[in-house]
Amino acid sequence: MPRRLSLPDTASVAIPGPDGRLFAPSAQRNVDAIGDLLAAHLIPHARMLEIAAGTGEHAVAFATRFPTNPWFPTDIDDARLASIAAHRDHTPAPNLAPPSKLDATSPGWGSTLQTDAILVVNLLHLISQSEAMTLLQNAAQALAPGGLLFLYGPFLRDGETTSEGDASFHASLTAQDPEIGYKDDWDVIDWIHTNWLTLVQVVEMPANNLAFIARKA
Ligand SMILES: C[S@@+](CC[C@H](N)C(=O)[O-])C[C@H]1O[C@@H](n2cnc3c(N)ncnc32)[C@H](O)[C@@H]1O
Repeated sequence: MPRRLSLPDTASVAIPGPDGRLFAPSAQRNVDAIGDLLAAHLIPHARMLEIAAGTGEHAVAFATRFPTNPWFPTDIDDARLASIAAHRDHTPAPNLAPPSKLDATSPGWGSTLQTDAILVVNLLHLISQSEAMTLLQNAAQALAPGGLLFLYGPFLRDGETTSEGDASFHASLTAQDPEIGYKDDWDVIDWIHTNWLTLVQVVEMPANNLAFIARKA
């Protein structure tokens, strides 16, 4: 994981708070919009695997908002896992599991678990194209029949950034590592189809982000 250590500061901001909790301004900004998206699609009692759960703010917010959905937060990074645990201690929810370590770009994890839904927020632009394809392949494998995949973040539209802020953020990522940066919306749709998922919807989200929702047959 050396790549993640050299990301620009703006790529994964987490501000230390009290009692081990980290706070990400972006998570606070997008939690309601992503929650509304989930509310429109998530079936009661569906098990949710959250990949790259970060600080844990989304995990506690969504576990609280969707109390029938067992929520399983994961991340690759020990500091983020500790923060998720601290948020869970601070705001307990009976349906929120303790965090587990998962490298979503490692081959094979999709055959080790099964879930009814997967949420990935703001990760694809921080990994390479081949890592993103590995993630999609394993997510598709891990989903139970009828399961839903939610991908949220900044993306290229037909190969282009669509704002000055996006152009400069994408450039700052590729300057650190030419393999990472925004993925193209058409590539994501291609990976969804390649893995035998059905594209349910592509949703324009606030701040120029996109959400892809895909279903396993
Ligand atoms: C920009 S943060 C997003 C966190 C959270 N989803 C949010 O929106 O607030 C990116 C997160 O991805 C995690 N991450 C990076 N590479 C990963 C990987 N290969 N597998 C799982 N998580 C990863 C980082 O540790 C970090 O918590």
